[in-house]
Amino acid sequence: MHRSHNCGELNIKNINQEVVLSGWVQNIRDLGGMIFIDLRDRYGITQLTVDINENESLFQKAKNIGREFVLKTNGIVQERTNKNKKINTGEIEIVLKKINILSKSETPPFTIEEDTDGGEELRLKHRYLDLRRKTMSENIILRHKIAHETRNFLIKNNFLEIETPFLIKSTPEGARDFVVPSRLNKGFFYALPQSPQTFKQLLMVAGFDRYFQLVKCFRDEDFRADRQPEFTQIDCEMSFVEEKDIYNIFSQYVKNIIKEIGGEEIKEIPKMTFAESIDLYGSDKPDLRFDLKIKNIGSVCKNKGFNVFDKSENISAFCLKEKSSISRKILDSLTEFVKSPQVGGSGLIYIKCNLDGSLKSSIDKFFNESDLKEIQNICDAKKDDVIFIICGDYKKTKQIIGDLRLEIIKRFKIEPNNKFAPVWITDFPLFDFDKEKQQFHAMHHPFTAPKNEDLEKLNNAPEKAIAQAYDIVLNGQEIGGGSIRIFDRKTQNKIFKLLGLSENEIKSKFGFLLEAFKYGAPPHGGIAFGFDRICAIMSNEKSIRDVIAFPKNNSGKDLMIDSPSLIDNDQLKDLNIKLSE
Ligand code: AMO
Repeated sequence: MHRSHNCGELNIKNINQEVVLSGWVQNIRDLGGMIFIDLRDRYGITQLTVDINENESLFQKAKNIGREFVLKTNGIVQERTNKNKKINTGEIEIVLKKINILSKSETPPFTIEEDTDGGEELRLKHRYLDLRRKTMSENIILRHKIAHETRNFLIKNNFLEIETPFLIKSTPEGARDFVVPSRLNKGFFYALPQSPQTFKQLLMVAGFDRYFQLVKCFRDEDFRADRQPEFTQIDCEMSFVEEKDIYNIFSQYVKNIIKEIGGEEIKEIPKMTFAESIDLYGSDKPDLRFDLKIKNIGSVCKNKGFNVFDKSENISAFCLKEKSSISRKILDSLTEFVKSPQVGGSGLIYIKCNLDGSLKSSIDKFFNESDLKEIQNICDAKKDDVIFIICGDYKKTKQIIGDLRLEIIKRFKIEPNNKFAPVWITDFPLFDFDKEKQQFHAMHHPFTAPKNEDLEKLNNAPEKAIAQAYDIVLNGQEIGGGSIRIFDRKTQNKIFKLLGLSENEIKSKFGFLLEAFKYGAPPHGGIAFGFDRICAIMSNEKSIRDVIAFPKNNSGKDLMIDSPSLIDNDQLKDLNIKLSE
């Protein structure tokens, strides 16, 4: 028998029992005649002791044990004199009778402690060691729980889990494809799915009605903390549904996860249109844990002789509470932030509402006290507040002030009003127009249906068409997105054409879908959640890397197995691939 108990379960009730424990040595301390070993497994840590006076040979054996050795130990549970209330097993210790070294360990390349001395690269190279650390293993266990809750919820609601293939062809989700060469069909390639989008729609044509899958998706795109080249979606599709049905069932899902995993009760998930979200928060991923709403102040700022305002399409402002004492230096560094290339602004205007009631601004030359008071009123600013103003063309202004809002929340460590703030963002435009290429792009994907009342706009003003598309945002992160789909060939064809696809391209890329629509396609719609992002938010981690057992680093590499790697010439020849010099 390797163990009678695990390392997280023994307590005062087990006193005097003889037990067998196996695990890794977290720590070993030799206090003169007494050795203390912390033995760790997935469930916790138990303290083991060997007293030189009780058992000299065992003591000598214990002296040669190092960190991360794997032991099997026998001993008697005893009450501790020095109790540790922080852990489950903190009231007891095991007085050892026998130690069996099952496996030795070299000194690990970094300390396997919460506060490790290992840098990111080193920890990724030895990920199996990093995963021994408590936070990391807790994240992976929480991920399992979220997957379990997700499956329970969806299965209870009649969804069927159905697998779809990985070796497919391009799915247009806006990223580059990872491709796999086919040996049997020389010169031909599979693409790995960016999502199972077309397959889940075909499952609806097949009559499965409610589908889901926890599925790997592959996207060759630039890295960010919330992106990985292979990530997991909770992919869902339903037949005979409208937008409201999707909001209904998936609001329940998100509320359920927040309750079961996050321990918070959310009454209702609000909805906000894309246009409102941009206007009020400067982003389609508003972080509603914080107020700081953006106000349009053009009505009181224009025609006061300040040229910069007069020629601006939009003047936006928001108020930062109780910070009128911020220094010139901080204001300058916020201006620098606005002007940085990633934000792309040209300047920042501020009004300080001083404690004595006076107002001090960077536009004093053009605005008198009563003008400034008007701005103060619109912004709902009181004594001691600071107002930040950005102006220019509408889209850019909103993006800049949205970025500034988030930066200020971060810099001033503003306390969130709640732990979880989910919101549905609705009514996205159907298309985005690329001015440079003079080309429409699908804002979500090309299978997204326009609002019924906007169908006519496809003929005369496609840029104005609104989609039956939605995102769900949690704490400022897009955790899911989806749409009601087009299910008739004519509209689907029209959209493909608006996206600039030729008849031939339509046939070769999506012929199979249009073909399927010939044989009775039901109205359908769905959503996919970013499973890694949900796990990261629930684990309070900034990067999804910390909730994935074996993630890639910032350059898309798996440092542990050293991938991607070169392949040998025979393999290349088999695949008919010639590498250029
Ligand atoms: P979308 O492209 O919005 O929709 O993806 C759905 C969700 O997947 C997550 N996500 C990612 N997570 C980690 N790394 C990435 N590289 C990454 N890319 C996306 C996000 C996102 O909200 N087929 C549609 C869904 C549908 O219409 O039903 C789709 O894939 O959380």
